[in-house]
Amino acid sequence: MRVALLGILVSALQVAGTILDNGHPRENPYPGQAPKISLDDTWNIYGADVPEIAYKGRWDSKHVSWWSAPGIKVEFTGGKGINISQLAVSFGPSTSDGVLVAYRLGSLDWQFSNVTADATYQFVGDWSELSDEEIREKKIFEMRAQIAGVATAGNAELTVPPSLASGQFATYETMSSWAYLFVAGLGNVEYSITAYAGACLTDKACYGGGARGMTWYWHQAADPGSRAHEFYGDEPEGWDVNAEQPADLVLIQMGGNDHRHPNEIPGKDFYHAYVDLIEDIHRSWPHAVVLIVSQWGYFAKKGMTYQVDQIYEEEGKKVHEHFKDLGFVYYFDTTGLLQHNDIGPKAHPTDVGHVKLASHLLQWVKLVLRWKLEPMGEVQHGTLSWNDQEGY
Ligand SMILES: *[C@@H]1O[C@H](CO)[C@@H](O)[C@H](O)[C@H]1NC(C)=O
Ligand SMILES: *[C@@H]1O[C@H](CO)[C@@H](O)[C@H](O)[C@H]1NC(C)=O
Repeated sequence: MRVALLGILVSALQVAGTILDNGHPRENPYPGQAPKISLDDTWNIYGADVPEIAYKGRWDSKHVSWWSAPGIKVEFTGGKGINISQLAVSFGPSTSDGVLVAYRLGSLDWQFSNVTADATYQFVGDWSELSDEEIREKKIFEMRAQIAGVATAGNAELTVPPSLASGQFATYETMSSWAYLFVAGLGNVEYSITAYAGACLTDKACYGGGARGMTWYWHQAADPGSRAHEFYGDEPEGWDVNAEQPADLVLIQMGGNDHRHPNEIPGKDFYHAYVDLIEDIHRSWPHAVVLIVSQWGYFAKKGMTYQVDQIYEEEGKKVHEHFKDLGFVYYFDTTGLLQHNDIGPKAHPTDVGHVKLASHLLQWVKLVLRWKLEPMGEVQHGTLSWNDQEGY
């Protein structure tokens, strides 16, 4: 199974700061800081091009990663008679300074480490608490770049010691987002999330007319942001959506940025861009089910209640209507799923809001598509702060 999500994040670019739990700074918010090391000839060094590195999400030909939640997966093992597993990753010159990456073994708990350009960090070592058997068996190492606006960059060299077979507001940004909670919650599913903070659906219509929209972005390796613009100007590398295994399910949620000041894209332009995007997806992946996820707006206090609106509600329904007879487009109405405290700053869900949405979508997939969910391990990090205590 493969699932693609388009436009899901609307979080604004921001400098990541302190993680707050109900107003208090979270203790140790990024456990797992990896030591910086230098490689010597006791390591087996694999270049960024080797087929053993599986790149997830959007990376360009220089192994630079782009929004959102791009990652790598590699399989490694300890060799015969070897009692230690070690794995390190080198980051190339385009890596953003101090950027946070998330990493883990298999689907065990996520860990976090800041990394910088032109440096190597060791993520698995004798501190990893692996049993002799776990050292010998094949293990998946996964790493995701996850903090908004400063996507990690590559030249990721997989470096394995000779002992091993040759072989935005949500707490953790993308990895706390409903998009990620949903796809990871499906279990054993490959996915990609194509989203960029502030991105519009409509192309060259927002922010005075120059900004590229999702209809364009879906075919680009890099995102429509300023970092990509510094790299590539107006001609970033294309992204061949047909080079990937076609998606079985595509979720689209757009509109938050088209709708707001200074953009205020007229409904009919938004509608046509939406139809164009779905037609494009259908041409590329003719068997994919497309789910239009309606876009909530803001809660406002009205008398003794809070009331929320939906954005481009009519247009979204009209797009669904347009494709209805073809049978592959569905409409997911989010009205009422998020209550007042589930929507935080600038219409972004709080962590609880993200969890609620992801849960409803998982249920939709179970009931409508009849997919089986396969629980694999940790999806959301840090939620034990929501009370894992007994006997109080
Ligand atoms: C691994 O084996 C070597 C050689 O037998 C030994 O010196 C070392 O202490 C062992 N390390 C661990 C972590 O068991
Ligand atoms: C590590 O990353 C977090 C999240 O982006 C950031 O708040 C923190 O300042 C970074 N630390 C360093 C030392 O770069």
